Amino acid sequence: MRISDPTIVGKLGELHVELQNGAALADLTSLGIGGNTDLLRIREHESLPDLLNLLDANHVPHKFLGGGSNLLVGDGELPWVVLQLVRPEPDVVLDGNIAHVDAAADLGRMITFCAKNDLGGMEGLIGVPGTVGGALRMNAGAYGMQIGSYVREVKLYRAASRKIEVLRDHQISFEYRHTSFAPDDMMLSVILELPSKPYKEILQGIRICNEKRRSSQPLGQKSAGCIFKNPPGASAGRMIDELGLKGLFVGDARVSDRHANFFVNAGHASAKDMLALIADVRERVQKNFGVALENEVVVWNA
Ligand code: EPU
Repeated sequence: MRISDPTIVGKLGELHVELQNGAALADLTSLGIGGNTDLLRIREHESLPDLLNLLDANHVPHKFLGGGSNLLVGDGELPWVVLQLVRPEPDVVLDGNIAHVDAAADLGRMITFCAKNDLGGMEGLIGVPGTVGGALRMNAGAYGMQIGSYVREVKLYRAASRKIEVLRDHQISFEYRHTSFAPDDMMLSVILELPSKPYKEILQGIRICNEKRRSSQPLGQKSAGCIFKNPPGASAGRMIDELGLKGLFVGDARVSDRHANFFVNAGHASAKDMLALIADVRERVQKNFGVALENEVVVWNA
């Protein structure tokens, strides 16, 4: 979708929102898949209520993009614009065991920065790509830990109230790859409380997790991490593997040879290819195991 009305363009300027015409979402997602639309880069959190009022008043649909690492975007000209926060400098400020983190901060860099300041707890998340905001929204987890455990407070834009609000930890529920945030809430910043740990010890934990990840996941390839959530008490990857589906493909969308719950873009896969592969694998798992796999990847398909 393109914003060409000069009045809207002028107002975006007044709100210090940068308009990038016809951005290729394939370049902004780890899968390297996705069509084109206008990208609105937000410099000041406080401009959000006015920005959203402006878009709604002009019937411009929108979606919030984080780091694009858990996302499958549709092909072609997209029927909505995309909003993304500009990462401020600094994006992490420490005060004792408390970390004030901007949602646009890179998750891995935030963990490393905290580690260097003897704050640990999140070692398991070190190889997870994406922003802190994205990790919060999905309650990213790995190797027995999840980001939600360390959250004390979240600042977010709530589409329902059209306001910026602050939620305390007891007002948010963090479950397995799921939170109580509404789909149209936009994460702005978070306060984490992290346990003190010597850097050397954290580093050792990070190395172990890195090694485990390297040996079991296709890190060098374009993917969105795991495609399906694990059903209670089972592993989606193991089930897909047991059906002999590693290497199964539709166009350039392939089930990884390394981890069967990672589907990779092996060249120029389209969203159509990837969605067809997802549907095919889901159907086979349903037929053979009687389990309906749920997407872990977020799909923006028109
Ligand atoms: N397995 C296979 N074949 C495969 C993949 C896995 O047999 O192709 C087996 C493994 O040998 C193991 C079991 O399945 O016995 C579980 O595999 P793994 O330890 O890789 O964990 P997972 O359940 O597949 C989950 C998360 C990952 C996270 C890892 C490590 C989900 C959907 N996946 O994977 O998260 O990195 O544990 O904690 O919860 C993600 O969220 O995108 C993601 C990749």
